[in-house]
Amino acid sequence: MKGQVIVENLKKIYLSKQRTGLFQSRTTEVEALKGVSLEIKAGEIFGLLGPNGAGKTTLIKCLTTLLLPTSGAAWINGYKLTEEDNAIRASVGCMLMGERGLYWKLTGRENLDFFGALYHLPAGERRRRSSEIIQRLHLEEIADRAVESYSSGQKMKLAFAKALINDAPILILDEPTNTLDVPSARELREIVQTLNQEGKTIIYTTHIMLEAEILCERVAIIDRGEVIAQGAVVDLKQSLGREKVIRLEGVISESALRAVEQLPGINRAALAMLNGHNQLTVVTAEESNLLPRLIETLTQHQALLQRITPEEVTLEDVFIAHTGRTLADNTSLQ
Ligand SMILES: Nc1ncnc2c1ncn2[C@@H]1O[C@H](COP(=O)(O)OP(=O)(O)OP(=O)(O)O)[C@@H](O)[C@H]1O
Ligand SMILES: [Mg+2]
Repeated sequence: MKGQVIVENLKKIYLSKQRTGLFQSRTTEVEALKGVSLEIKAGEIFGLLGPNGAGKTTLIKCLTTLLLPTSGAAWINGYKLTEEDNAIRASVGCMLMGERGLYWKLTGRENLDFFGALYHLPAGERRRRSSEIIQRLHLEEIADRAVESYSSGQKMKLAFAKALINDAPILILDEPTNTLDVPSARELREIVQTLNQEGKTIIYTTHIMLEAEILCERVAIIDRGEVIAQGAVVDLKQSLGREKVIRLEGVISESALRAVEQLPGINRAALAMLNGHNQLTVVTAEESNLLPRLIETLTQHQALLQRITPEEVTLEDVFIAHTGRTLADNTSLQ
């Protein structure tokens, strides 16, 4: 189907030489993908999450025909991997390796033109599309300078621009916000959302769980070459069956507490004094829609609320639940 990506039991074993002495080496096998199966729906933003070394880039390289899988099958935009690779290349815009995929002696505009030519776009079309993308990504000021003079963030933006040149129905982005500052990362995510609204299927790779929560409806969490969880973000969180805690601070009376206790979906509620004001802690098993009802009930009982802190289950919790490990390195949102 157009825009759809199906992956069935994909395996990739790298053979790498390990040096054992000055003139000696032996070949070792690295099983980077141990039978990955995925279904990415047409028109969605699908998050591919996992820590360093999980196999994300390997999977993307396989799906974009840059790397031959050891076994398994995949269909991209309806085309079968290894059998219809030309059609797959025309179906996918890919941002991989970030800045390393650019020609540093060429200007940004020349890079876009060059990659457009690789897709056999006619010259007029290439010019039109390059200008459109430069405008869209606000690259006008640097577009006619050699890439070697760009900052690393600007190079990343150009690498993203390059992924758009063939206007493919599927966009695959490998950690696109790496090295971007906070506003640029946010801007890029917004552009990704707009592209998605325009109908593109997007596969978004990241090791920042919060980034996936913001962007993606469905995700696959990959770890050590295996998909350990896959599905809608809401379902994955719910599958933990974890209770949710909401803390409310302000002036809250005992009668308000009793009213809250009567609300459906509340497991426990407790009221405490904290720095001269009340803190109400509500424990619930429900995923959504409780907060508005909670606030309504409290205000009906003359509560004055100053602060509300829902402690949501995050995708990080899903990862911890499946692996027993945290995503130790940078999981904060850029
Ligand atoms: N060319 C290669 N030869 C041998 N092993 C490789 C090669 N490329 C990757 N690997 C190994 O395959 C595994 C998966 O690597 P991959 O780059 O796909 O991970 P990743 O999820 O993209 O990680 P990161 O978040 O660090 O980019 C790692 O153990 C890595 O060392
Ligand atoms: Mg990678």
